[in-house]
Amino acid sequence: MSTAVETKAQSHREELAKLEMEVEALRQQLRHTQRLATLGTMTAMVAHEFNNILTPMINYAQLARSNPALVDKAIMRAADDGLRATEICGAILGLTDGSRAAPTEVNLDQLVRRTVAAMGRDPRKDGIEMPIDIPANLVIRIRRIELQQVVLNLIMNARSAVIDKAPPRLVRVWARRKRKRLVLRVSDNGGGIAAKHLSKIFEPFFTTKQGGNGSTDGRGLGLAICRQIVAALGGRIEVESTPGQGAAFTVSVPA
Ligand SMILES: Nc1ncnc2c1ncn2[C@@H]1O[C@H](COP(=O)(O)OP(=O)(O)OP(=O)(O)O)[C@@H](O)[C@H]1O
Ligand SMILES: [Mg+2]
Repeated sequence: MSTAVETKAQSHREELAKLEMEVEALRQQLRHTQRLATLGTMTAMVAHEFNNILTPMINYAQLARSNPALVDKAIMRAADDGLRATEICGAILGLTDGSRAAPTEVNLDQLVRRTVAAMGRDPRKDGIEMPIDIPANLVIRIRRIELQQVVLNLIMNARSAVIDKAPPRLVRVWARRKRKRLVLRVSDNGGGIAAKHLSKIFEPFFTTKQGGNGSTDGRGLGLAICRQIVAALGGRIEVESTPGQGAAFTVSVPA
């Protein structure tokens, strides 16, 4: 009798050991899939940010082909933007492996103005007013390239929220230092965000835009990148929106 019980217990132990091995194999598979998914998202993020840089760079080069007076400007632009692309590549990949550049002193007003210039198209050409309300002497210590990517993505979203509406088209950039934090807000008077979308907009690949035609715009990555960078800077990003009246994104980071 006791032998029968022992045999049964032994077979349960063997069954349990087999199940444990299966669970461990599944865990490993899951870790592998998660790594691949992260890699896929990171690759898409780098491609997304490169596209933001390459589009204005190509436009300049094409203009210079038909207007030789612009050649010098196009070359300078290509050199600047090429450098920015390598820095961005490093910044985004550094978010996952911890090899991030050191923080430096950054004048915020200048950073925002340079970011707008880097977009390659004067907002006024699209009838967009873009007041920048930042104290000229606001200098913070931060990872410049990372902050610049956040500003660029927020401004690009605000721009696309107002570009097809009737004037006035308004995108405001406001920043102040408050109790050892930098608070930066990008707001617009576009169509705003539907309440049911508010909880989804920071997820990678969530978009309400029509990409298509091989377009790299409208992939639903801009805000996912912003959220990841802001978290890596030890801060947070929040959104407020009144549908039909506009949206405001507020970033707050230690500075
Ligand atoms: N300023 C804004 N006004 C209205 N809706 C916005 C605004 N910013 C973001 N959204 C909404 O959030 C969604 C996600 O934004 P996100 O920047 O992540 O992706 P995207 O702009 O659609 O595509 P991508 O940035 O990859 O080109 C947008 O599709 C849009 O619906
Ligand atoms: Mg976007």
